[in-house]
Amino acid sequence: MKKIEIKNLTKIFGKNTKEGLKRLKKGQTKEEIFKETGMTVGVNQVDLDINEGELFVIMGLSGSGKSTLIRMLNRLIEPTSGDILIDGVHITNLNKAELRDVRRQKIAMVFQSFALFPHMTIAENTAYGLEVQGIPEEDRLRKAKEALELVNLAGYEDQYPSQLSGGMQQRVGLARALAADTDIILMDEAFSALDPLIRKEMQDELEKLQAKMGKTIVFITHDLNEALKLGDHIALMRDGKIVQVGTPEEILMNPANTFVERFVEDVDVSKILSAENIMIQPETIDVRRHGPRVALERMKQAGISSIYVVNEKNELQGIVTADEAAQGIKDHVIDIRSIMETDVPRVDEDCPLTEIIEKIYDIKVPIAVTDQKVLKGIIIRGTVLAALSKEEVSYA
Ligand SMILES: Nc1ncnc2c1ncn2[C@@H]1O[C@H](COP(=O)(O)OP(=O)(O)OP(=O)(O)O)[C@@H](O)[C@H]1O
Ligand SMILES: [Mg+2]
Repeated sequence: MKKIEIKNLTKIFGKNTKEGLKRLKKGQTKEEIFKETGMTVGVNQVDLDINEGELFVIMGLSGSGKSTLIRMLNRLIEPTSGDILIDGVHITNLNKAELRDVRRQKIAMVFQSFALFPHMTIAENTAYGLEVQGIPEEDRLRKAKEALELVNLAGYEDQYPSQLSGGMQQRVGLARALAADTDIILMDEAFSALDPLIRKEMQDELEKLQAKMGKTIVFITHDLNEALKLGDHIALMRDGKIVQVGTPEEILMNPANTFVERFVEDVDVSKILSAENIMIQPETIDVRRHGPRVALERMKQAGISSIYVVNEKNELQGIVTADEAAQGIKDHVIDIRSIMETDVPRVDEDCPLTEIIEKIYDIKVPIAVTDQKVLKGIIIRGTVLAALSKEEVSYA
């Protein structure tokens, strides 16, 4: 379900935005328009759909238009042209009062550095914003307490900001957004000022919260690893435009152009890819119909030294090596079950590459990838290495 629809959205900073729009439609670049008119294109004809309950990451270099885009969603910045729909309602058409309601009830925002009020307690700081919503004090403090629990700050309600570390203060910012209990949270570099360890903690916490609360989160970051870790979808921006939108896998495995490619160059793919991304189609034999002779013949044909055995439903039964098959032929074995190994290395489709790497060096046969019992693919050392070096990877 679409939560936020962005249609042909443009922001031009400058005096004669009509003229700027004309130039954009003619295909002039941000740079050309700036040189010729002095106007800055913040966001350039962006189309985006953000689904309900997803964490949608916007990333891009400094000045690419991320903040401008996200701030148009609650009209902290007025769009020059285009449309924004939230739950099907045109945000661009709202009058002041309607807009105020949307900001209070639908969209909360967390910034990189936001100020806590030093003379107010953590609970009061968290509840700030609820007061303007007209919520009675008792309810405000209860909501604040719940939100602080969610970000692991239970017990700090009565402390003052100066008594908290920077990371804890940033969590209060998140708690404040959570306390407002909006469907949508906009986070503009909310973690960027934190040191790496605390940042990782916050990422983990946000993931957990997201799973628990199912909010729609639009999350801006400079950091590709953070984007890959958190994002259900990632949009890459450059010069006000969206260069690519996709799942983390899609962006890594299939960078739309050299700009995206350069962005993903330094990524540790082992943390992002899972078994289903690197498995290949397995050679198999049928447990009912095939004996050691067929097994050995198949292995010779395919140039492999072991083969997986499945039943008619493609459920994994075991594995036979070439040596075992050869021995079986000598011993006049007919039923493959009497020689196959049933204890096989096995992972689920979503097993991360990091775990697969650990396994694969200890075992001689390919790892089976299964869904319940069904054999979906196999992983061989070569494809793991290829994935790690980001060469061509075969998909099953
Ligand atoms: N108020 C403004 N007046 C004029 N130009 C602006 C204004 N705000 C932003 N811009 C310009 O719009 C473009 C996009 O800026 P924006 O702040 O959205 O980038 P960003 O991707 O958020 O960058 P950063 O990562 O540094 O926060 C930039 O070229 C910037 O100079
Ligand atoms: Mg910004």
